[in-house]
Amino acid sequence: MKTTTDLQRRKLLKYAAIGIAGATAYPGWAKATNDFVRVNTSSADFLADVEIELTMNTADVPILSGNKTHVWKVTGKVIKGASDVLDNNDGTYLAPTLRLKKGQKVRLTLNNNLPAQSILHWHGLHVPANMDGNPMYAINSGETYIYEFEILNRAGTYWYHAHTHSVTARQVYSGLAGLFIVSDDQEQALNLPSGGQDVALVIQDRSFDSQNQLAYSAHMMQRMQGFLGEQILVNGQPDFVLPVATRAYRLRLLNGSNSRIYKLAWDDGTPLTVIGVDGGLLERPEQHDYVMLAPGQRRELWMDFSERAIDSELTLRSLAFDVASHGGMGMMGGRGMMGGGMRRGGMMSVSTLPSGSDYPILKIRVAKKEQGSNTLPKVLTPITALRIKDAANADNPKTIALSMRHMSALLNGRSYKMNDVQPDEMIPVNSLQLIEFDNGFDSGMHGMMNMPHPMHLHGEQFQIVKREVNSRSGDSYASVASGLIHNGWQDTVLVMPGEKVTILKPFNDFKGPFMYHCHNLEHEDMGMMRDFLIK
Ligand code: C2O
Ligand code: CU
Ligand code: CU
Repeated sequence: MKTTTDLQRRKLLKYAAIGIAGATAYPGWAKATNDFVRVNTSSADFLADVEIELTMNTADVPILSGNKTHVWKVTGKVIKGASDVLDNNDGTYLAPTLRLKKGQKVRLTLNNNLPAQSILHWHGLHVPANMDGNPMYAINSGETYIYEFEILNRAGTYWYHAHTHSVTARQVYSGLAGLFIVSDDQEQALNLPSGGQDVALVIQDRSFDSQNQLAYSAHMMQRMQGFLGEQILVNGQPDFVLPVATRAYRLRLLNGSNSRIYKLAWDDGTPLTVIGVDGGLLERPEQHDYVMLAPGQRRELWMDFSERAIDSELTLRSLAFDVASHGGMGMMGGRGMMGGGMRRGGMMSVSTLPSGSDYPILKIRVAKKEQGSNTLPKVLTPITALRIKDAANADNPKTIALSMRHMSALLNGRSYKMNDVQPDEMIPVNSLQLIEFDNGFDSGMHGMMNMPHPMHLHGEQFQIVKREVNSRSGDSYASVASGLIHNGWQDTVLVMPGEKVTILKPFNDFKGPFMYHCHNLEHEDMGMMRDFLIK
């Protein structure tokens, strides 16, 4: 595989000032799909089982009634492989859903036909550094990036999205995100609900102006808190209704929102049966009254509708919770309060749908009678527990302190810079590392804002080994605690105010830069992101 040396020298974005999905500022961007300039080459000795061409383009899609909405849309074409490896999600802004198998070798040819630089990152996949969509590999309009990798991950609901320096939030918001679903033999042998009973649900929030165009604002308040849209969309649609038959379903939920955290529950009090997390199936199903879903995270639910009456409905809601601890500045954000301009966590809420309020996400309608086998296996998949004593730094955990102040969001007091790896950010390849995310646990609250941070690491999935909270975490931790899932393989962990989360993460096989960052995309763009250098 060739690396792209000229990309390393690439200058920072020139396009940051272009408005959301604005296409007019860049004449001549509309290219035919065959004259893109390749900035790296495919390698002759990589024999792809599946080849897909993905093109990022501007598009107008119907979302609300009336005017279409201008979005950034990825459209795919299968060059080699079965046609069902790709579903373009036509008529929505969602990027294609890819369905691939563990062990397959995939070549993804990404064409940029947008009026801006961009690059796609495969969130949760264990791929070589130069295939990971690090912002240093962003391509210009008119250029092509070729990804080649083998799918090493176990079966699971992974996803992909833009990861462009300082504009990831805007680009994902414009539409550059989709699902990357991996299956494997072990998972297939379980006979979980499949076909029409295997449903992926991408939860996002958006705001629209009076012309039905996406509204995005990056004023200081929205950036500190993270952008909060005023409307919940599922699979790119408002008021989403899923018709189901009277049988069991596998529901794959992805939080593809910029910053919104969900506290998911069925409105009739039925507990949620969780069968999978970011990195695939759990060892055994878990029941929770509610489940937290932070940006970037995935949770798979198993839900049996066989006892339900035809035409009955069930709503998946986000329940109220405390978004911030009662530290720092005075805070009066009550539970479930609605309306804009309200103080929460020491900040004015900037959304009419505040974070931590109570609102519906989607509705399920039992539409038809159907027979099916509805048994959920008691054991899903074996998971080998990582052990602290096997970590290369078992006695000396790597601490990452999360902090926010004024206009910055920092990791260990540092802001993101390309090619700026510090000594404590170097990790030997093929080592297991003990890492702790400290959100004001040891060191007190950093700065004036105590916020939850969904921390994500690129590369291999990790395991959570410990969660600790101090007294300052107050009601905020208590209001989410039983919806946190500690088991299984994860790539994004919600670190609440006053909390310290310790994880074990393997860094196997691939050298090079792998990012770690907050998946609140406004925080990420504000600098709450760094690279580890695996060497
Ligand atoms: Cu989902 Cu670095 O991102
Ligand atoms: Cu990622
Ligand atoms: Cu954050």
